[in-house]
Formats: sequence, structure tokens, C-alpha cells
Amino acid sequence: MSVPKSVALPGGDQIPAVGCGTWTVWEAAPGAVRDAIKAAIAEGYRHVDCAWVYGNEQEVGEAIQDKIKDGTVARSDLFVTTKLWDTAHRRGAVTEQLKKALARLSLDYVDLYLIHWPTSFKEGDIDFPKDDNDKHIFEFHDIQDTWKGMEDAKDAGLTKNIGISNFNSKQVQRVIDGARIKPCNIQIEVNPLFSNARLIDFCRERGLTVTAYAPFGSPNRPWKKSDDPVLFEQPILKDIAAAKGKSPAQVCLRFLLQRGLVVIPKSVTPSRLKENFQLYDFELSEAEMKQMFSLNRDHRVYGQEITLDHPEYPFSIPF
Ligand SMILES: NC(=O)c1ccc[n+]([C@@H]2O[C@H](COP(=O)([O-])OP(=O)(O)OC[C@H]3O[C@@H](n4cnc5c(N)ncnc54)[C@H](OP(=O)(O)O)[C@@H]3O)[C@@H](O)[C@H]2O)c1
Repeated sequence: MSVPKSVALPGGDQIPAVGCGTWTVWEAAPGAVRDAIKAAIAEGYRHVDCAWVYGNEQEVGEAIQDKIKDGTVARSDLFVTTKLWDTAHRRGAVTEQLKKALARLSLDYVDLYLIHWPTSFKEGDIDFPKDDNDKHIFEFHDIQDTWKGMEDAKDAGLTKNIGISNFNSKQVQRVIDGARIKPCNIQIEVNPLFSNARLIDFCRERGLTVTAYAPFGSPNRPWKKSDDPVLFEQPILKDIAAAKGKSPAQVCLRFLLQRGLVVIPKSVTPSRLKENFQLYDFELSEAEMKQMFSLNRDHRVYGQEITLDHPEYPFSIPF
């Protein structure tokens, strides 16, 4: 089964099917993301996934400017995504935060702007506002209203496309019901241990394209529990990889691409960046796809438990 190198967004733009994740908070020294994005662009990546809350948009921006200046790419060759953080869900705050993000990125526009989570925090400069009892401070904004702010940002030419992330099916539907411009993309956790199939189908039936984050289940996450399943150690995956002469990481990514998803693996290691981009010289048969699907454990790694008692907590219904 051949897979395209990009996925068409409803408005006509193409999102490159393999992008570069940049959330490295717990494992990257200052400068590591800048070097990784420079190496990634040199390797051929044209899609970078950022977010306000990752705190490194400036480094990403420096890397992009460097590769534009040295002639490797033009701005128009790149697809840059960033995400609205929970502290700017008021309609008027959406555009304000995007303007600041663009300044950090040294860009005039992004290609895709996403609402990072449906859960809104107290507005302000502190990304994780807390009260005296160390409890996160929420503030309530209707997601349909926040979406209007996203439409404003697109109207202002600050972003070419708008979408959502970590919304459940009911929240997706509410955004669509109140939208003048429909979301064109949803970014959600998907990997072989967490197939997320029902939400993917639900979104596709409504015209959204789907990006799979944490395609390896974020193996080095600090909150990993000792009894959590370890993706790269699953015998089925190891056997398929050995039979293909590919790494387990490459088989995971190819599996997701064959499901029609966009993937955004993160690495700050040049050899892995290279490996994660070499996905088009092999394919998985129907039987191998079936075997890969059998690895699903509905095992979510990004549960965002800090918002468990937020009224918009997205993961309290099946999908
Ligand atoms: N929308 C959201 O809420 C959301 C949530 C989570 C993530 N994301 C996005 O999705 C991206 C990816 O998710 P993630 O970073 O959590 O997890 P991931 O991509 O599933 O895993 C990243 C980890 O895998 C390692 N790795 C990368 N390539 C490898 C390879 N070929 N072989 C073995 N190990 C490899 C990396 O190590 P090294 O870096 O040391 O090589 C890193 O520790 C994020 O960076 C972010 O951009 C979005």
C-alpha cells in the first residue's frame, strides 16, 4: 500500500505527513531543539510541530531562520504548527497570544494553529497558575467562543489553518456546531498501544484530518509506571521490524502513515531524526497491519490529570 507524502487539508494546503515534534522539556539541554530542527530541515523534514507551552518556540524560530538564510529552504516550503495555551482562551486573547508566539518564532504566520487543550486556565503570563494550596486555577471560557478567536486569527492572516487538539467527540461536535470556519485538523495521541480508532473515525466523518502525537508512546516520559506496556519491546513489533530490516520505530510510524495519519515523532538525536524520516521504502502487508492493530491496549500516556476536575476534562468519556 503506497502512502502519500502529504495530506490535503480541506482549504487546499498540504500538511507533510511526517513532521518533527519539539516537546522536549524533560530531556533537552538549552540549544538542543535548535540543533535538532536544523538537522531535521537539512534531512528533508518540512513540518515542525510547536506549542506555546513547550517554551522553546524561540529556538525553533532561530533554527528555521538559519535554514532559510543558508538557502536550504524558503518559508513557503515549511509547514509550521503552533498551539494556543490554556491561559489564553478568552476570544480576544487568542490573537494576542498568537502574535507573541509569532514573535518568538520570528515568523509572520503559522500554517496551522491549534487549541492545545479544551481546558482553560486563569488568563495571564503564568502558564500553570496555582492558588495558595498548590491547586491549578481554572477559568471558564466556552470552547465555541475560543473557537471564534481562532477564526479571528485566521481572518487576520496570522495562521493559514485552524484546528484543535485533545478534544473528545462531544467537544469536536460543539466546535463544529458553532463554527463559521470548521476545524481542519485534530492532533491527538495515537500509537500502536493506543489506537484511538473511534475518535479518528468520528473526526474523519466530519472532514477533519488527524495528526498522531506521541507516535512511540513517549517512551522516556518521566511519569512512566513500572507496569506500563513498553511499545518497543512488544514481540509482534520486534518480529515485523526484524523481518523488514527496519527499526521498531520505523514500523510504528509506517503503521500510522498507512492508517492515513500525519505523524510528529520527536527526537533530538540526528541518527534517529534520519531513521524516523525513512519510511517510504517499505510497506506493511494487510496481515502485518492487522498484527499491529492487535497491539492496542487503549493505553493513553497523556492523561493530563492536572485538569481531571475541570468541566471540560476531555478523557472522562470513552472517546
Ligand atoms: N497536542 C498535544 O497535546 C501533544 C502532546 C504530546 C506530544 N505532542 C507533540 O508530539 C510530539 C511527539 O510526542 P512525544 O515527544 O511525547 O513522544 P514520541 O515522539 O512518541 O517519543 C519521543 C521519544 O522517543 C525517542 N525516540 C525518537 N525517535 C526514536 C527512535 N527512532 N528510536 C528510539 N527512540 C526514539 C526520543 O528520544 P531522543 O529525543 O533522545 O532521540 C524521545 O525520548 C511532541 O514532541 C509534540 O510536538 C503533542
